[in-house]
Amino acid sequence: MENKTVLVTGGLGYIGSHTVVELISAGYFPVIVDNLANSTIGRLSSLEDLTGVKIAFEEVDCTNESEMRRVFSSYKINSVIHFAAFKSVEESQKMPEAYIRNNVGSTKVLLQLMEEFSVERFVFSSSCTVYGTPEINPVSESTPRLPAASVYGQTKQDCEDLIFEASKSAPFQSVVLRYFNPVGAHPSAKIGESTNDAPTNLIPLVCEVATGKRAKLFVFGEDYDTPDGSCIRDYIHVVDLAKAHVLALNLSKESNLEIFNLGVGKGYSVKEVVDRFQEINGVSITVEITGRRSGDVPAIWAIPDYAEKKMGWKCQLTIDDALAHAWNWTKTQIR
Ligand code: NAD
Ligand code: WQD
Repeated sequence: MENKTVLVTGGLGYIGSHTVVELISAGYFPVIVDNLANSTIGRLSSLEDLTGVKIAFEEVDCTNESEMRRVFSSYKINSVIHFAAFKSVEESQKMPEAYIRNNVGSTKVLLQLMEEFSVERFVFSSSCTVYGTPEINPVSESTPRLPAASVYGQTKQDCEDLIFEASKSAPFQSVVLRYFNPVGAHPSAKIGESTNDAPTNLIPLVCEVATGKRAKLFVFGEDYDTPDGSCIRDYIHVVDLAKAHVLALNLSKESNLEIFNLGVGKGYSVKEVVDRFQEINGVSITVEITGRRSGDVPAIWAIPDYAEKKMGWKCQLTIDDALAHAWNWTKTQIR
């Protein structure tokens, strides 16, 4: 029988936990490794509640090679999905060494152990940030990677480079998934986006304004060369994103390396997102236009055609679904 045991690093985090739900519903057995750097153990109970399954969990830092070797020895792992990383662009500028140690260090450990334990497939969480500030939109997988605007972006480029190098000789297949802007929450509202520190991403901040926790949303710049002057991004529902990971585990082995853009293929401006959020959820968001945020790319959105052609992946949920689900989830978190 096919071995369906999947090691999911960072599986208690935002995208990881949504992926664990999809893995279980597709008949996989996830083994979660998370050190709770940006999650809480409560997410494990929420996942068990949502799926009705007892989930294997190891509280381990995946930069710790000996602890990770113990994990690989304890389970017969077929594939690895590597979500664990630090992800704040702003924090990465203040703590570059910590970001390099965690993001690049954990990837090195996994690449080494996967070879040692004959793992078949490696799925890596990359990001549209690897494109830097693209000269042309939308971007395809062959759009050149330009210099990263942050240490965080540089760590994703460095991890990709390690994977590209490993794929020349490693016995496992690597699938690099470049996410655009993941948003929303599970439709059940049992899991969603949380951070141990204050959020820095747009939708969680909009939600905090809607709850009254924050007085207003600062829109970072309205003087960009875009139709309404605010930045444009490709916002993808986290459940659609999660489903792509399941498809990535089913790819044919004809190529040792695959790279996919995972976005909707349409860009929305910050102002459009805020307007839609208010309309869909019937709440009011106070906005103040402020200066540009350092390192922000004016506009980026994806051509996701290759993921559809090769994996049969297509978004089923809309940005409006994502904004409604994000708000439903946030309301469950108000104490
Ligand atoms: P998240 O912070 O919610 O989840 C990451 C999880 O990894 C957390 O539970 C954290 O505790 C854990 N973790 C971090 N370092 C660890 C370590 N050394 N050992 C074990 N566990 C560790 O982040 P997310 O939004 O779910 O992002 C998942 C992945 O996707 C990351 O690699 C991130 O860089 C990438 N990504 C995220 C976005 C986004 O906007 N959310 C966009 C593109 C790419
Ligand atoms: C979205 C838009 C801001 C907050 C980052 C990473 C990217 C990926 C996703 C991991 C931007 C604007 C935001 C606010 C605002 N992560 N904004 N006021 O910066 O597009 O992408 O997270 O890989 O790699 O770079 O996401 O959600 O922070 O911002 O106006 O208070 O919202 O300027 O245009 P970003 P974000």
